[in-house]
Amino acid sequence: MCTKKKLCNIKGISEAKVDKIKEVAVKVSGDKAFLTALEYAEQRKTCFRISTGSHDLDMLLGGGLESMAISEAFGEFRTGKTQLSHTLCVTAQLPGANGYTGGKVIFIDTENTFRPDRLRSIADRFNLDQEAVLDNVLYARAYTSEHQFELLDFVAAKFHEEMGVFKLLVVDSIMALFRVDFSGRGELADRQQKLAQMLSRLQKISEEYNVAIFITNQMTADPGATMSFQADPKKPIGGHILAHASTTRISLRKGRGELRIAKIYDSPDLPENEATFAITGGGIADAKE
Ligand code: GTP
Ligand code: MG
Repeated sequence: MCTKKKLCNIKGISEAKVDKIKEVAVKVSGDKAFLTALEYAEQRKTCFRISTGSHDLDMLLGGGLESMAISEAFGEFRTGKTQLSHTLCVTAQLPGANGYTGGKVIFIDTENTFRPDRLRSIADRFNLDQEAVLDNVLYARAYTSEHQFELLDFVAAKFHEEMGVFKLLVVDSIMALFRVDFSGRGELADRQQKLAQMLSRLQKISEEYNVAIFITNQMTADPGATMSFQADPKKPIGGHILAHASTTRISLRKGRGELRIAKIYDSPDLPENEATFAITGGGIADAKE
């Protein structure tokens, strides 16, 4: 007999919840310019958190990845950005704190590093039915920055069509294609303008449909670092545009073996703490003492 959990709750959310989401969608899309602070507080109550797979990392993030916001993880290669993206695809499907029911995921892959087999081993860790887990993740490969932007139309349409069913959108990585498409020095202003359009679209989607958005980002040498005596002379790319669009930014760095260290880089309401986690066969997990 199969003992795997079936995740049957993903399709059915209550009509009251759908109404709430629709109400917010109308407000966000501009039919009503102002909300009272009380209405806004009500709206914020529908926010949820998705576990990262590591309790310590969740604590660092104030309980997990927040909905109605863009969270960004940046770090050098092999620091776990893609592994975290994969783990979230599974943990987003699990019921969580404050009545979070779990939901489906859309994954936009710009670097061709999405591996469904990774989802299988992560599903095993949580004792979930592999096929059911894979079936709940919609995957798209983006080939150009323009294509990446266009895919957001599909994302919004899907979120609209299946209101309340999708809880997470992953873009791994947000900048890779922009880096390729706008590589000339003279193209930076153009790049930032296109990037700003895309990020504002993402922001709107996250609020309108109450979903969490997780983006990953690369790093580059900071030419100003030697002047300011920074300990780590690298910074995330995307400039101020990306810095302002991401609600929470975490920087990832390597530790010993499979350990990684996450640090809050920029957040409106979180202290600048650190957390250590591990990359395991079952995805992101707590570091063993
Ligand atoms: P870039 O995209 O290259 O910038 O790197 P990234 O930050 O996305 O790195 P990624 O998330 O791909 O992490 C790679 C790390 O995860 C490597 O150190 C791998 O050894 C580790 N890793 C990948 N799969 C597994 C696995 O199944 N088990 C374990 N224990 N580690 C894994
Ligand atoms: Mg990666």
